[in-house]
Order: sequence, then C-alpha cells, then structure tokens
Amino acid sequence: MKTETTVQGLNASLTAARLGRKTIGLVPTMGNLHSGHIQLVQEARRYCDLVVVSIFVNPLQFGVGEDFDRYPRTLDEDRKLLVDASCDILFAPTVDQMYQQWPQATLVTVGGLSEELCGAHRPGHFSGVATVVSKLFNIVQPNLAFFGEKDYQQLAVIRRLTADLCFPVEIIGVPTIRAADGLALSSRNAYLSPEDRSKAPLIYQTLNWIAAELLAGSREYDNLSAKAVATLKSQGFEPDYVEIRSTDLLHPESTAKEWVILVAAKLGQTRLIDNLLVNIGKDPELRSKRPVSASRKA
Ligand code: PAJ
Repeated sequence: MKTETTVQGLNASLTAARLGRKTIGLVPTMGNLHSGHIQLVQEARRYCDLVVVSIFVNPLQFGVGEDFDRYPRTLDEDRKLLVDASCDILFAPTVDQMYQQWPQATLVTVGGLSEELCGAHRPGHFSGVATVVSKLFNIVQPNLAFFGEKDYQQLAVIRRLTADLCFPVEIIGVPTIRAADGLALSSRNAYLSPEDRSKAPLIYQTLNWIAAELLAGSREYDNLSAKAVATLKSQGFEPDYVEIRSTDLLHPESTAKEWVILVAAKLGQTRLIDNLLVNIGKDPELRSKRPVSASRKA
C-alpha cells in the first residue's frame, strides 16, 4: 500500500490507473478506523481495480465547541488495518494540503436537506462535508465512492450533491456494522464512559421498537417518536430528534412501504446517531443488513 500526503504525489500514483482505464474506488474517512470503515474498503475492493482510502479530519465540518481537537488520530494503526484490507493507496493529506488558503472562500451547500435533522443541530456541518467530499472527488476522480448508511443523512446529502454538480461518480451505500449488543460502530464510541457504553445500545433497541410498531400497523408517527424520546430521556440520554421519514428523507412520514427511522442523542458529552430502514413485508433486522445494491464489476 502506498501512502500519499500531497495532491501531486497522489496524482503521480494514480496516473497508470487512469491511463489504463482502471475502476478507481474512493472511501473517504476521518481515520480511527473500525470494522465499519473496513467494510467500506472491502466493498470497494469487490467492485474496483484500485482502492483509495482518504484519512482527513476535516476542520470545516466541525462546529465551534465540537470535538475537532480531541478527535482520535491513530494513523499508524489505521495504516495496518488498511494493509490487511488490501487498500492500494492511503491518501492522508495535511490541513494545509487540503485547504491551501484558509479559510476557504468557496463552500458547497446542499440546500434544504442540510438544514434538517442533524443539520439543524450542527449548523454548517453538511456544508463542511459537501465541500471536502467535492474536493476529494476532484482530487481522486474516482469512478465509485463508498459511504456508510450509518450516516444516513450524510449519504443522502452526498447523493444529492453528486447529482446536482454532475460528478461522474457512482455513490454506493454500505449497511451499518454494529457491535454484538447492537451499538453502531463509531469512532466517537471511544468517548463513552463504561457506564454510558452499557446504556448506548438502547438507541438500537429503540429503533427496533419503532420498527416493530410500524410493521404491526401503527402509523402514529408523532406518538411513536414522542414515546421513544421519553424512553431515551428516562435513561439519561438527551435526544436531538427521533424521526420516522420516507427513505429519501424528504417526507416527514411515509405512505409507501419503506421508512427510515433516525435517532440522534447525546449521552454524556458524546453525540450518537443511528438509523434503521424498515420495509413492510420484510424483517427490519434483515432489511438493515441487506447487501449493497451495486452491480458487480464485470
Ligand atoms: P467517518 O466518520 O470517519 O466515516 C467514514 C465513512 O465510514 C462514512 O461513510 C461513514 O458513514 C462510514 N461508517 C462509519 N461508521 C460505520 C459503521 N458502523 N458501519 C458502516 N459504515 C460506517 O463520515 C465521515 O467520516 C466524514 O464526514 C467524511 C465523509 C469522511 C467527510 O469528511
């Protein structure tokens, strides 16, 4: 595996693949890699000739008072995991490489969707994400890019961004990887105290409870959300929202056969997010673990 820290170096490493019309896959990350990230790399490996993983803790997507400074940076361990996962190129630029002039004057904003749900609680966050992902698309010029369904709204924002700006990139969503007790893997789980870590699976249990109610025929969306908020609060969580939406996130409720249930809640100082896709006629547990829908590489 090659490690590149500059755009020039990365271009040099990608020249042969570009000339040879190889399928290039990009997995953008902020590092501190866990099995969720590695699942994305494995999916990229299945579909692409050349796999590029980026590790960049993007200052533009952290708000004032958020955890940019203390975000875990574990490049040596990450490198080992990527070698094991057969990544071809690790792109790990410095902030100066990514933002040659700081603050950057040009920002990419995906209207509407970016202001709701997590966007309402983290102003500017999705603009920071959309901007850095646009830069990575231009730098790497991948054919496919892989993102986790764990960050469901982020995935929706990136799909919209890609369509609106005509990036010639296919976006592949990858199902969420969870700990044995159901907690979605996240770099931020490391912030949890042992006591909070033992409480954290309640989020996934709550998602499953709502899914079961929907599958049993309930359509009392507001009531279900309110009960879920009350349950989380009673166990010491501070929920930002519990919402039941159509899978495109555009409608507050769904008359179709599919929903996504989304939760964001603080536990101590740690903000956790999770979601569950629900499909009438299918077990929600199976639904959330379905394989990615991309066509395989020929
Ligand atoms: P990061 O939080 O490091 O996540 C990188 C990618 O891994 C994202 O696509 C995220 O959805 C996915 N991921 C995280 N946890 C996962 C899990 N448990 N199962 C499956 N996939 C998981 O998301 C970001 O970084 C940044 O916002 C980024 C897109 C890199 C832009 O800076």
